[in-house]
Amino acid sequence: MDERDGQLQAALLEWYAAEGRDLAWRRTRDPYAVLVSEIMLQQTQVSRVEPRFEAWLRRWPTVDALAEASPADLLGEWSGLGYNSRALRLHAAAREIAAHGWPDTEAGLRALPGIGDYTAAAVAAFAFGLQAAAVDTNQVRVLDRWDAALGRSPREVRRRALELVPPEAPDAWNHALMDLGATICQARAAACDRCPMATWCLSAGLVDPQAERAMRGKPGGGAGARPQRFEDTQRYVRGRIVAALVERGSVERDALVDAIPDGIEPARVASALTSLVADGLVDQGPEGLLSLPR
Ligand code: ADE
Repeated sequence: MDERDGQLQAALLEWYAAEGRDLAWRRTRDPYAVLVSEIMLQQTQVSRVEPRFEAWLRRWPTVDALAEASPADLLGEWSGLGYNSRALRLHAAAREIAAHGWPDTEAGLRALPGIGDYTAAAVAAFAFGLQAAAVDTNQVRVLDRWDAALGRSPREVRRRALELVPPEAPDAWNHALMDLGATICQARAAACDRCPMATWCLSAGLVDPQAERAMRGKPGGGAGARPQRFEDTQRYVRGRIVAALVERGSVERDALVDAIPDGIEPARVASALTSLVADGLVDQGPEGLLSLPR
């Protein structure tokens, strides 16, 4: 956490207080209701989940009620939501909870049958108010853009996500990230001109969804990645940045893209620059003046 992180936190929480979506499952801290909603929302969009979530809770208002229901009834009630195995996972978790009570830690939630990292974190943050990061693809995208750091490993992203969760508002924070990703910082387009984070986001005005898709998941050609042309790697862009700094001595951050000859997409330059600064290979002065370390 540095000063910029504090600004990011304040700006996003303020935006969420004014613009956040008012959704049924956000008005409760009942862990059962939160669990039902998060499992429904995993592969089904919000507008389709809303009526089904309420119907589900009317039919089975508690985890004990659900634990006693038959799988056939569950699947009937689930019909049309798709991915039916989710209903059975929910059932398995409900039975375990009915028998042994709710775990009170994120790790305890993760140990429940059918509950993965994301769902455990979501219940921990939304129902128990624990400092947890519900890292889904939206959250990864938003955080990668903030830091201009595409291609971080899942572990690095999780560490970064967790560091940013404000201990006093883990629920609002995770919801706010979801809403920003769903409305402004979308995968196919980023509306930086109306984004509350633009002042502190290292990718503001530079987001290039096509280049992101091309780069996602292959920092240096990870497992399963297709062989990559060297020109498409981050190592190549880092090399061009260092070469420009060797040649010019120093460059303003805003002028860096023009200082690199081959028309590399600005978002890739920003991302490579972030990694160079993080690795101590480039110094970034207070006014954004870039130079090689002395
Ligand atoms: N998608 C997954 N969890 C969600 C939530 N709590 N609110 C809105 N969309 C979501």
